[in-house]
Amino acid sequence: MANERACEPMIAIRGLHKSFGDHRVLTGVDLSVAEGSTTVILGGSGSGKTVLMKHIIGLLRPDLGEVWIEGENIAALDGRALDEVRRKFGMVFQASALFDSMTVFENVAFPLREHTRASEEQIARVVHEKLDVVGLREVDGKYPAELSGGMRKRVGLARAIALEPKIVLYDEPTTGLDPITTDYVDEMILEAKKKLGVTSVVISHDVGSAMHIADRIAFLHEGQICAEGPPAELRSSGHPAVTRFLSTWLEKGRA
Ligand SMILES: Nc1ncnc2c1ncn2[C@@H]1O[C@H](COP(=O)(O)OP(=O)(O)O)[C@@H](O)[C@H]1O
Ligand SMILES: [Mg+2]
Repeated sequence: MANERACEPMIAIRGLHKSFGDHRVLTGVDLSVAEGSTTVILGGSGSGKTVLMKHIIGLLRPDLGEVWIEGENIAALDGRALDEVRRKFGMVFQASALFDSMTVFENVAFPLREHTRASEEQIARVVHEKLDVVGLREVDGKYPAELSGGMRKRVGLARAIALEPKIVLYDEPTTGLDPITTDYVDEMILEAKKKLGVTSVVISHDVGSAMHIADRIAFLHEGQICAEGPPAELRSSGHPAVTRFLSTWLEKGRA
């Protein structure tokens, strides 16, 4: 029995369908994410990546299908039970979404103040621990505007892990960043996995970044995962949409 449990994926999506009016966005998504692994969901803009992510965290409900988180079908939950499941997640947003009027310290402390009764002393300890994870302990007194884009992303991660989630979701973490900052953010994702052992799901249309950080890449196209596997296998998937996506990236000289 213990073995069965150990083999259960952290996230399992089965036959997920979602339309908005007559716009069919997801038409049968199947995807499993193993505990402690990093999966990158790759796809063109407007392909439904963010919609898929919102189902994983229970912000959207499937028209049809199931979303299992640690063996629990969250599509069937609401209210408190769904809140409980959401506590398993940390989110890192595209625009790091920090509060500009708060210091780095207060940004990272925010979820602790909102969701726990930790003392000031405990809060300070956790905030510094999380800032250590992202290598930014020394900036705790600064304001977001005083930091580089890459550092703001790292503070966003420190805040996302403040409540020690099992799963970290990143929505387009490198979109719009220059190549050096992209590397810096990629390293952050790799370090978070190594230091925290979290399960990571990264939504991206950045092939180079996906190849670098992913254990597995899932390619979303026309509402379904049309190819899935380790980065090296994606190149030989033979699916025309994947081939096109990769060759466009190669032409840009990013190889
Ligand atoms: N709440 C919504 N209502 C209507 N349409 C939506 C909604 N959310 C997303 N969409 C549509 O779903 C499609 C996929 O969106 P999205 O998941 O944001 O794409 P991306 O892959 O770029 O993240 C888009 O055409 C978008 O307009
Ligand atoms: Mg998106």
